[in-house]
Amino acid sequence: MQQDLQDLIDKNAQLVLHPASSVSALLESGPDMIVSADGCYIEDAHGNRLLDAVGGLWCVNVGYGRSELARAMQQTAEKLAYYHTFSNASNPWQVQLAERLLEHAPAGLGKVFYGSGGSDANDTLIKIAWHYHTLCGNSGKTKVIAREQGYHGTSISTASLTGLSGFHKGFPLPQDFVLRVECPHYYTRGRVDETEEAFCTRLIDEVATLIANEGADTIAAFFAEPIMGAGGVIEPPEGYYPRLNKLLKKHDIFLVADEVVCGYGRLGTWFGSEQLGLEPDMISTAKGLTSGYFPMSAAMISDTIWDVLKQGSEQLGAFSHGYTYGGHPVGCAVALVNLDIIEREGLVQRAAESGEYLHAQLRRHLAGHPNVGEIRGRGLIAGVQLVEDKAQRQVPDPAAKWPLRVAKVTRQHGVVVRPLLGVGTLAMSPPLTISKPQIDVLVAALGRGIDSLASG
Ligand SMILES: Cc1ncc(COP(=O)(O)O)c(C=O)c1O
Repeated sequence: MQQDLQDLIDKNAQLVLHPASSVSALLESGPDMIVSADGCYIEDAHGNRLLDAVGGLWCVNVGYGRSELARAMQQTAEKLAYYHTFSNASNPWQVQLAERLLEHAPAGLGKVFYGSGGSDANDTLIKIAWHYHTLCGNSGKTKVIAREQGYHGTSISTASLTGLSGFHKGFPLPQDFVLRVECPHYYTRGRVDETEEAFCTRLIDEVATLIANEGADTIAAFFAEPIMGAGGVIEPPEGYYPRLNKLLKKHDIFLVADEVVCGYGRLGTWFGSEQLGLEPDMISTAKGLTSGYFPMSAAMISDTIWDVLKQGSEQLGAFSHGYTYGGHPVGCAVALVNLDIIEREGLVQRAAESGEYLHAQLRRHLAGHPNVGEIRGRGLIAGVQLVEDKAQRQVPDPAAKWPLRVAKVTRQHGVVVRPLLGVGTLAMSPPLTISKPQIDVLVAALGRGIDSLASG
Protein backbone atom coordinates (compact mmCIF):
# COMPACT_ATOMS: atom_id res chain seq x y z
CA MET A 1 0.00 0.00 0.00
CA GLN A 2 1.19 3.53 -0.72
CA GLN A 3 2.58 5.33 2.32
CA ASP A 4 0.16 8.26 2.01
CA LEU A 5 -2.79 5.85 2.10
CA GLN A 6 -1.38 4.15 5.20
CA ASP A 7 -1.05 7.59 6.83
CA LEU A 8 -4.69 8.35 6.08
CA ILE A 9 -5.76 5.03 7.56
CA ASP A 10 -3.72 5.77 10.69
CA LYS A 11 -5.24 9.24 11.06
CA ASN A 12 -8.82 8.20 10.22
CA ALA A 13 -10.07 7.21 13.64
CA GLN A 14 -8.36 10.21 15.25
CA LEU A 15 -10.11 12.68 12.99
CA VAL A 16 -13.43 11.33 11.78
CA LEU A 17 -16.58 10.35 13.66
CA HIS A 18 -18.25 7.72 11.47
CA PRO A 19 -21.99 7.19 11.12
CA ALA A 20 -23.44 3.99 12.59
CA SER A 21 -19.99 2.92 13.78
CA SER A 22 -18.48 2.26 17.19
CA VAL A 23 -15.72 4.75 18.02
CA SER A 24 -13.77 2.20 20.06
CA ALA A 25 -14.13 -0.54 17.44
CA LEU A 26 -12.87 1.87 14.77
CA LEU A 27 -9.88 2.79 16.93
CA GLU A 28 -9.11 -0.89 17.32
CA SER A 29 -9.61 -2.15 13.77
CA GLY A 30 -9.06 0.96 11.65
CA PRO A 31 -11.30 2.00 8.78
CA ASP A 32 -12.34 -0.09 5.82
CA MET A 33 -10.84 2.29 3.27
CA ILE A 34 -12.32 2.00 -0.23
CA VAL A 35 -10.26 3.70 -2.90
CA SER A 36 -11.92 3.00 -6.24
CA ALA A 37 -14.86 1.28 -7.90
CA ASP A 38 -16.00 0.16 -11.31
CA GLY A 39 -19.13 -1.67 -12.48
CA CYS A 40 -20.19 -3.98 -9.61
CA TYR A 41 -16.73 -3.96 -7.98
CA ILE A 42 -15.04 -1.89 -5.30
CA GLU A 43 -11.36 -1.92 -4.44
CA ASP A 44 -10.01 -1.44 -0.94
CA ALA A 45 -6.75 0.10 0.20
CA HIS A 46 -5.09 -3.33 0.34
CA GLY A 47 -5.78 -3.92 -3.34
CA ASN A 48 -8.66 -6.35 -2.78
CA ARG A 49 -11.21 -6.22 -5.58
CA LEU A 50 -14.61 -7.09 -4.16
CA LEU A 51 -18.01 -7.73 -5.72
CA ASP A 52 -20.22 -5.15 -4.02
CA ALA A 53 -23.49 -7.02 -3.56
CA VAL A 54 -24.91 -4.14 -1.50
CA GLY A 55 -24.51 -1.41 -4.12
CA GLY A 56 -22.79 0.92 -1.63
CA LEU A 57 -25.60 1.46 0.87
CA TRP A 58 -28.51 0.12 -1.24
CA CYS A 59 -28.00 2.89 -3.78
CA VAL A 60 -25.59 2.35 -6.68
CA ASN A 61 -28.33 1.18 -9.05
CA VAL A 62 -26.49 1.79 -12.34
CA GLY A 63 -23.13 0.54 -11.03
CA TYR A 64 -19.89 2.42 -10.41
CA GLY A 65 -17.61 4.27 -12.80
CA ARG A 66 -20.16 5.66 -15.25
CA SER A 67 -18.33 8.36 -17.22
CA GLU A 68 -21.63 9.77 -18.46
CA LEU A 69 -22.56 10.70 -14.91
CA ALA A 70 -19.14 12.19 -14.21
CA ARG A 71 -19.41 14.24 -17.41
CA ALA A 72 -22.90 15.46 -16.48
CA MET A 73 -21.47 16.68 -13.15
CA GLN A 74 -18.56 18.45 -14.77
CA GLN A 75 -20.55 20.07 -17.56
CA THR A 76 -23.30 21.25 -15.24
CA ALA A 77 -20.89 22.50 -12.58
CA GLU A 78 -19.04 24.52 -15.23
CA LYS A 79 -22.31 26.08 -16.34
CA LEU A 80 -24.13 26.52 -13.01
CA ALA A 81 -22.24 25.04 -10.04
CA TYR A 82 -24.92 26.10 -7.62
CA TYR A 83 -27.85 28.32 -7.15
CA HIS A 84 -30.55 27.99 -4.51
CA THR A 85 -34.24 27.36 -5.08
CA PHE A 86 -35.64 29.42 -2.20
CA SER A 87 -38.00 32.35 -2.84
CA ASN A 88 -39.01 31.15 -6.34
CA ALA A 89 -35.43 30.79 -7.65
CA SER A 90 -35.12 27.92 -10.08
CA ASN A 91 -32.94 26.23 -12.68
CA PRO A 92 -33.85 24.28 -15.84
CA TRP A 93 -32.61 20.91 -14.56
CA GLN A 94 -34.95 20.69 -11.58
CA VAL A 95 -37.97 21.25 -13.84
CA GLN A 96 -36.85 18.70 -16.43
CA LEU A 97 -36.22 16.20 -13.66
CA ALA A 98 -39.65 16.73 -12.06
CA GLU A 99 -41.26 16.02 -15.42
CA ARG A 100 -39.26 12.81 -15.84
CA LEU A 101 -39.85 11.60 -12.28
CA LEU A 102 -43.58 12.09 -12.47
CA GLU A 103 -43.74 9.98 -15.64
CA HIS A 104 -42.72 7.00 -13.52
CA ALA A 105 -44.19 7.90 -10.12
CA PRO A 106 -47.04 5.93 -8.52
CA ALA A 107 -50.52 7.01 -9.61
CA GLY A 108 -51.87 10.22 -8.13
CA LEU A 109 -48.54 11.90 -7.40
CA GLY A 110 -48.11 15.20 -9.18
CA LYS A 111 -45.50 17.43 -7.50
CA VAL A 112 -41.85 17.09 -6.45
CA PHE A 113 -39.85 18.54 -3.55
CA TYR A 114 -36.06 18.18 -3.62
CA GLY A 115 -33.60 17.66 -0.77
CA SER A 116 -30.25 16.07 -0.07
CA GLY A 117 -31.01 12.60 1.36
CA GLY A 118 -33.62 10.13 2.55
CA SER A 119 -33.87 11.47 6.11
CA ASP A 120 -34.62 15.00 5.01
CA ALA A 121 -37.18 13.72 2.46
CA ASN A 122 -39.04 11.87 5.21
CA ASP A 123 -38.73 14.83 7.56
CA THR A 124 -40.23 17.02 4.83
CA LEU A 125 -43.16 14.65 4.39
CA ILE A 126 -43.93 14.62 8.11
CA LYS A 127 -44.02 18.41 7.98
CA ILE A 128 -46.16 18.46 4.82
CA ALA A 129 -48.64 16.10 6.51
CA TRP A 130 -48.75 18.38 9.57
CA HIS A 131 -49.05 21.49 7.40
CA TYR A 132 -51.84 19.99 5.30
CA HIS A 133 -53.91 18.94 8.31
CA THR A 134 -53.36 22.32 9.98
CA LEU A 135 -54.49 24.14 6.85
CA CYS A 136 -57.58 21.91 6.76
CA GLY A 137 -58.41 22.98 10.32
CA ASN A 138 -57.19 19.71 11.87
CA SER A 139 -54.12 20.90 13.73
CA GLY A 140 -54.55 18.08 16.25
CA LYS A 141 -53.55 15.52 13.61
CA THR A 142 -49.87 15.31 14.57
CA LYS A 143 -49.06 11.70 15.46
CA VAL A 144 -47.35 9.44 12.96
CA ILE A 145 -47.60 5.66 12.85
CA ALA A 146 -44.47 3.66 12.02
CA ARG A 147 -43.58 0.01 12.29
CA GLU A 148 -41.20 -2.04 14.40
CA GLN A 149 -38.02 -2.66 12.37
CA GLY A 150 -38.84 0.08 9.87
CA TYR A 151 -35.97 2.37 8.86
CA HIS A 152 -36.67 5.94 7.83
CA GLY A 153 -33.45 7.79 8.66
CA THR A 154 -31.52 9.17 11.61
CA SER A 155 -32.55 12.82 12.02
CA ILE A 156 -34.46 13.51 15.25
CA SER A 157 -37.86 12.99 13.63
CA THR A 158 -36.91 10.15 11.29
CA ALA A 159 -34.87 8.24 13.90
CA SER A 160 -38.07 8.43 15.92
CA LEU A 161 -39.95 6.78 13.05
CA THR A 162 -37.21 4.19 12.71
CA GLY A 163 -38.27 1.13 14.68
CA LEU A 164 -34.82 -0.29 15.43
CA SER A 165 -33.85 0.26 19.06
CA GLY A 166 -30.16 0.68 18.22
CA PHE A 167 -31.02 4.06 16.67
CA HIS A 168 -32.66 5.27 19.91
CA LYS A 169 -30.08 4.05 22.42
CA GLY A 170 -28.30 6.92 24.14
CA PHE A 171 -30.66 9.57 22.77
CA PRO A 172 -33.98 10.89 24.12
CA LEU A 173 -35.72 9.05 21.27
CA PRO A 174 -38.17 8.13 19.89
CA GLN A 175 -40.08 11.37 20.24
CA ASP A 176 -43.59 10.95 21.46
CA PHE A 177 -45.38 11.93 18.23
CA VAL A 178 -44.61 8.43 16.96
CA LEU A 179 -47.03 5.53 17.44
CA ARG A 180 -45.48 2.10 16.89
CA VAL A 181 -47.12 -0.95 15.37
CA GLU A 182 -45.98 -4.53 14.80
CA CYS A 183 -43.41 -5.44 12.18
CA PRO A 184 -45.30 -7.27 9.42
CA HIS A 185 -42.95 -10.24 9.28
CA TYR A 186 -44.82 -13.52 9.39
CA TYR A 187 -41.72 -15.70 9.74
CA THR A 188 -40.53 -14.09 12.98
CA ARG A 189 -43.71 -12.45 14.28
CA GLY A 190 -46.42 -14.94 13.35
CA ARG A 191 -47.71 -16.91 16.34
CA VAL A 192 -47.64 -20.68 16.63
CA ASP A 193 -50.55 -22.08 14.60
CA GLU A 194 -51.42 -18.64 13.20
CA THR A 195 -51.95 -18.67 9.43
CA GLU A 196 -50.44 -15.89 7.33
CA GLU A 197 -53.94 -14.63 6.63
CA ALA A 198 -54.77 -14.52 10.33
CA PHE A 199 -51.46 -12.75 10.97
CA CYS A 200 -52.41 -10.13 8.37
CA THR A 201 -55.80 -9.64 10.02
CA ARG A 202 -54.09 -9.23 13.40
CA LEU A 203 -51.80 -6.54 11.97
CA ILE A 204 -54.65 -4.59 10.39
CA ASP A 205 -56.78 -4.94 13.52
CA GLU A 206 -53.88 -3.59 15.56
CA VAL A 207 -53.74 -0.45 13.39
CA ALA A 208 -57.54 -0.07 13.54
CA THR A 209 -57.52 -0.40 17.33
CA LEU A 210 -54.67 2.08 17.65
CA ILE A 211 -56.58 4.60 15.52
CA ALA A 212 -59.72 4.06 17.61
CA ASN A 213 -57.83 4.43 20.91
CA GLU A 214 -55.75 7.45 19.93
CA GLY A 215 -58.48 9.08 17.84
CA ALA A 216 -58.18 9.55 14.07
CA ASP A 217 -58.26 13.29 14.73
CA THR A 218 -54.79 12.99 16.35
CA ILE A 219 -53.06 10.99 13.58
CA ALA A 220 -51.45 12.58 10.51
CA ALA A 221 -49.76 9.77 8.61
CA PHE A 222 -48.52 6.19 8.42
CA PHE A 223 -44.97 5.61 7.11
CA ALA A 224 -44.07 2.35 5.39
CA GLU A 225 -41.24 1.06 3.25
CA PRO A 226 -42.93 -1.17 0.61
CA ILE A 227 -40.29 -3.77 1.49
CA MET A 228 -38.31 -2.95 4.61
CA GLY A 229 -34.59 -2.73 3.90
CA ALA A 230 -32.40 -2.23 6.97
CA GLY A 231 -35.01 -3.92 9.19
CA GLY A 232 -34.32 -7.23 7.45
CA VAL A 233 -35.69 -7.15 3.87
CA ILE A 234 -39.23 -7.75 5.03
CA GLU A 235 -42.36 -7.96 2.94
CA PRO A 236 -45.78 -7.93 4.62
CA PRO A 237 -48.28 -10.74 4.11
CA GLU A 238 -50.50 -10.74 1.05
CA GLY A 239 -53.45 -8.39 1.36
CA TYR A 240 -51.80 -6.17 3.98
CA TYR A 241 -51.33 -3.04 1.86
CA PRO A 242 -54.74 -3.06 0.15
CA ARG A 243 -56.37 -3.35 3.57
CA LEU A 244 -54.10 -0.68 5.02
CA ASN A 245 -54.88 1.70 2.11
CA LYS A 246 -58.58 1.38 2.82
CA LEU A 247 -58.30 1.78 6.57
CA LEU A 248 -56.09 4.88 6.39
CA LYS A 249 -58.22 6.55 3.70
CA LYS A 250 -61.31 6.05 5.85
CA HIS A 251 -59.65 8.01 8.66
CA ASP A 252 -58.00 10.73 6.56
CA ILE A 253 -54.54 9.47 7.52
CA PHE A 254 -51.86 9.77 4.82
CA LEU A 255 -50.01 6.72 3.62
CA VAL A 256 -46.39 7.74 3.03
CA ALA A 257 -44.37 5.19 1.08
CA ASP A 258 -40.69 5.39 1.90
CA GLU A 259 -39.26 4.36 -1.47
CA VAL A 260 -35.70 5.34 -0.57
CA VAL A 261 -34.47 1.75 -1.08
CA CYS A 262 -37.26 0.29 -3.26
CA GLY A 263 -37.39 3.15 -5.77
CA TYR A 264 -35.76 3.36 -9.20
CA GLY A 265 -36.00 -0.25 -10.26
CA ARG A 266 -34.71 -2.14 -7.24
CA LEU A 267 -37.71 -4.51 -7.07
CA GLY A 268 -38.05 -4.89 -10.84
CA THR A 269 -40.63 -2.10 -11.12
CA TRP A 270 -39.99 1.64 -11.05
CA PHE A 271 -41.28 1.91 -7.49
CA GLY A 272 -42.19 -0.64 -4.83
CA SER A 273 -45.66 0.83 -4.33
CA GLU A 274 -46.99 -0.33 -7.70
CA GLN A 275 -45.76 -3.89 -7.18
CA LEU A 276 -46.88 -4.30 -3.58
CA GLY A 277 -50.22 -2.52 -3.90
CA LEU A 278 -49.60 0.64 -1.85
CA GLU A 279 -51.62 3.70 -2.85
CA PRO A 280 -49.45 6.39 -1.32
CA ASP A 281 -50.42 10.03 -0.87
CA MET A 282 -46.71 10.89 -0.79
CA ILE A 283 -43.42 9.10 -1.38
CA SER A 284 -39.82 9.75 -0.40
CA THR A 285 -37.01 8.78 -2.75
CA ALA A 286 -33.22 9.21 -2.67
CA LYS A 287 -30.36 6.71 -3.17
CA GLY A 288 -31.15 5.23 -6.65
CA LEU A 289 -32.34 8.68 -7.80
CA THR A 290 -28.69 9.50 -8.56
CA SER A 291 -27.31 5.98 -7.95
CA GLY A 292 -25.40 7.58 -5.07
CA TYR A 293 -23.29 9.77 -7.40
CA PHE A 294 -24.75 12.92 -5.83
CA PRO A 295 -26.46 13.31 -2.42
CA MET A 296 -30.03 14.01 -3.34
CA SER A 297 -33.65 13.24 -2.53
CA ALA A 298 -36.96 13.79 -4.25
CA ALA A 299 -40.18 13.66 -2.26
CA MET A 300 -43.40 13.49 -4.28
CA ILE A 301 -46.88 14.48 -3.19
CA SER A 302 -50.39 14.18 -4.57
CA ASP A 303 -52.13 17.00 -6.40
CA THR A 304 -54.77 16.99 -3.66
CA ILE A 305 -52.16 17.84 -1.05
CA TRP A 306 -50.62 20.46 -3.33
CA ASP A 307 -54.03 22.12 -3.82
CA VAL A 308 -54.31 22.59 -0.06
CA LEU A 309 -50.74 23.95 0.16
CA LYS A 310 -51.64 26.37 -2.60
CA GLN A 311 -54.65 27.64 -0.69
CA GLY A 312 -52.47 27.73 2.44
CA SER A 313 -49.94 30.01 0.82
CA GLU A 314 -52.74 32.41 0.02
CA GLN A 315 -53.55 32.45 3.77
CA LEU A 316 -50.11 32.11 5.38
CA GLY A 317 -47.59 33.26 2.79
CA ALA A 318 -44.54 31.11 2.14
CA PHE A 319 -44.31 27.35 2.68
CA SER A 320 -41.47 27.90 5.14
CA HIS A 321 -39.45 24.77 4.70
CA GLY A 322 -36.46 23.84 2.57
CA TYR A 323 -32.75 23.13 2.35
CA THR A 324 -29.83 25.05 0.89
CA TYR A 325 -29.08 22.30 -1.61
CA GLY A 326 -32.66 21.45 -2.67
CA GLY A 327 -33.00 21.27 -6.46
CA HIS A 328 -29.20 21.43 -6.86
CA PRO A 329 -28.46 21.85 -10.57
CA VAL A 330 -25.60 19.34 -10.54
CA GLY A 331 -27.65 16.77 -8.63
CA CYS A 332 -30.63 17.19 -10.95
CA ALA A 333 -28.38 16.83 -14.02
CA VAL A 334 -26.91 13.63 -12.55
CA ALA A 335 -30.39 12.29 -11.80
CA LEU A 336 -31.50 13.02 -15.37
CA VAL A 337 -28.59 11.08 -16.87
CA ASN A 338 -29.08 8.32 -14.29
CA LEU A 339 -32.70 7.99 -15.50
CA ASP A 340 -31.45 7.96 -19.11
CA ILE A 341 -29.20 5.02 -18.26
CA ILE A 342 -31.94 3.12 -16.41
CA GLU A 343 -34.32 3.58 -19.34
CA ARG A 344 -31.83 3.00 -22.16
CA GLU A 345 -30.41 -0.17 -20.64
CA GLY A 346 -33.80 -1.47 -19.50
CA LEU A 347 -32.49 -1.83 -15.96
CA VAL A 348 -35.91 -2.08 -14.35
CA GLN A 349 -36.78 -5.12 -16.44
CA ARG A 350 -33.28 -6.42 -15.99
CA ALA A 351 -33.65 -6.18 -12.19
CA ALA A 352 -36.83 -8.25 -12.45
CA GLU A 353 -35.08 -10.95 -14.50
CA SER A 354 -31.78 -10.98 -12.60
CA GLY A 355 -33.77 -10.86 -9.38
CA GLU A 356 -35.59 -14.04 -10.30
CA TYR A 357 -32.27 -15.69 -11.01
CA LEU A 358 -30.76 -14.41 -7.73
CA HIS A 359 -33.67 -15.69 -5.65
CA ALA A 360 -33.72 -19.03 -7.48
CA GLN A 361 -29.99 -19.51 -6.89
CA LEU A 362 -30.22 -18.47 -3.24
CA ARG A 363 -33.05 -20.95 -2.70
CA ARG A 364 -31.30 -23.69 -4.62
CA HIS A 365 -27.98 -23.42 -2.81
CA LEU A 366 -28.88 -22.09 0.63
CA ALA A 367 -32.47 -22.98 1.52
CA GLY A 368 -31.51 -26.43 2.75
CA HIS A 369 -28.78 -25.14 5.06
CA PRO A 370 -29.54 -25.84 8.74
CA ASN A 371 -28.77 -22.21 9.66
CA VAL A 372 -30.88 -20.63 6.94
CA GLY A 373 -34.48 -20.06 7.99
CA GLU A 374 -35.94 -17.91 5.25
CA ILE A 375 -34.84 -16.39 1.95
CA ARG A 376 -36.85 -13.33 1.05
CA GLY A 377 -37.13 -10.22 -1.07
CA ARG A 378 -38.05 -9.37 -4.65
CA GLY A 379 -36.12 -8.23 -7.67
CA LEU A 380 -32.59 -7.25 -6.70
CA ILE A 381 -33.12 -7.02 -2.97
CA ALA A 382 -32.68 -10.16 -0.94
CA GLY A 383 -32.39 -11.16 2.69
CA VAL A 384 -31.15 -14.43 4.09
CA GLN A 385 -32.46 -15.08 7.59
CA LEU A 386 -30.06 -16.98 9.83
CA VAL A 387 -31.50 -19.29 12.48
CA GLU A 388 -29.97 -21.26 15.30
CA ASP A 389 -32.78 -23.77 15.21
CA LYS A 390 -34.67 -24.12 11.96
CA ALA A 391 -37.70 -25.97 13.32
CA GLN A 392 -38.20 -23.43 16.10
CA ARG A 393 -37.40 -20.46 13.82
CA GLN A 394 -34.95 -19.37 16.49
CA VAL A 395 -33.16 -16.22 15.36
CA PRO A 396 -29.54 -15.99 16.61
CA ASP A 397 -28.76 -13.87 19.64
CA PRO A 398 -27.41 -10.50 18.34
CA ALA A 399 -24.58 -10.78 20.90
CA ALA A 400 -23.23 -13.79 18.97
CA LYS A 401 -22.80 -11.53 15.92
CA TRP A 402 -23.60 -14.24 13.39
CA PRO A 403 -24.33 -11.87 10.49
CA LEU A 404 -20.97 -10.14 11.06
CA ARG A 405 -19.13 -13.45 11.10
CA VAL A 406 -20.85 -14.56 7.89
CA ALA A 407 -20.21 -11.23 6.16
CA LYS A 408 -16.53 -11.37 7.12
CA VAL A 409 -15.98 -14.82 5.60
CA THR A 410 -18.09 -13.92 2.54
CA ARG A 411 -15.79 -10.97 2.04
CA GLN A 412 -12.73 -13.19 2.32
CA HIS A 413 -14.27 -14.96 -0.68
CA GLY A 414 -14.47 -11.69 -2.58
CA VAL A 415 -18.05 -10.51 -1.98
CA VAL A 416 -19.52 -7.75 0.21
CA VAL A 417 -22.94 -8.45 1.76
CA ARG A 418 -24.62 -6.40 4.46
CA PRO A 419 -24.89 -7.89 7.95
CA LEU A 420 -28.08 -6.82 9.76
CA LEU A 421 -27.03 -7.71 13.26
CA GLY A 422 -30.18 -7.06 15.24
CA VAL A 423 -32.33 -9.23 12.96
CA GLY A 424 -29.87 -12.03 12.17
CA THR A 425 -29.99 -11.37 8.45
CA LEU A 426 -27.62 -10.90 5.52
CA ALA A 427 -28.93 -8.37 3.01
CA MET A 428 -28.09 -7.89 -0.65
CA SER A 429 -29.01 -5.08 -3.06
CA PRO A 430 -26.42 -5.20 -5.86
CA PRO A 431 -26.24 -2.80 -8.80
CA LEU A 432 -29.09 -3.53 -11.22
CA THR A 433 -26.42 -4.33 -13.80
CA ILE A 434 -25.18 -7.44 -11.97
CA SER A 435 -24.71 -10.39 -14.34
CA LYS A 436 -25.68 -14.03 -13.84
CA PRO A 437 -22.04 -15.17 -13.43
CA GLN A 438 -21.60 -12.46 -10.79
CA ILE A 439 -24.75 -13.68 -9.02
CA ASP A 440 -23.24 -17.19 -9.02
CA VAL A 441 -20.08 -15.82 -7.40
CA LEU A 442 -22.20 -13.97 -4.82
CA VAL A 443 -24.27 -17.02 -3.88
CA ALA A 444 -21.20 -19.27 -3.65
CA ALA A 445 -19.32 -16.81 -1.43
CA LEU A 446 -22.32 -16.30 0.83
CA GLY A 447 -22.67 -20.08 1.10
CA ARG A 448 -19.06 -20.29 2.28
CA GLY A 449 -19.78 -17.53 4.78
CA ILE A 450 -22.78 -19.36 6.21
CA ASP A 451 -20.89 -22.67 6.27
CA SER A 452 -18.26 -21.02 8.47
CA LEU A 453 -20.81 -20.77 11.31
CA ALA A 454 -20.42 -24.52 11.83
CA SER A 455 -16.77 -24.06 12.78
CA GLY A 456 -17.78 -22.06 15.86
C1 LIG B 1 -35.86 3.16 3.63
C2 LIG B 1 -34.94 4.28 4.01
N1 LIG B 1 -35.43 5.49 4.28
C3 LIG B 1 -34.66 6.53 4.60
C4 LIG B 1 -33.28 6.37 4.68
C5 LIG B 1 -32.43 7.53 5.09
O1 LIG B 1 -31.70 8.01 4.04
P1 LIG B 1 -30.40 8.92 4.30
O2 LIG B 1 -29.40 8.04 4.95
O3 LIG B 1 -30.03 9.37 2.91
O4 LIG B 1 -30.81 10.05 5.16
C6 LIG B 1 -32.71 5.14 4.39
C7 LIG B 1 -31.26 4.95 4.46
O5 LIG B 1 -30.74 3.86 4.37
C8 LIG B 1 -33.56 4.06 4.07
O6 LIG B 1 -33.05 2.83 3.84
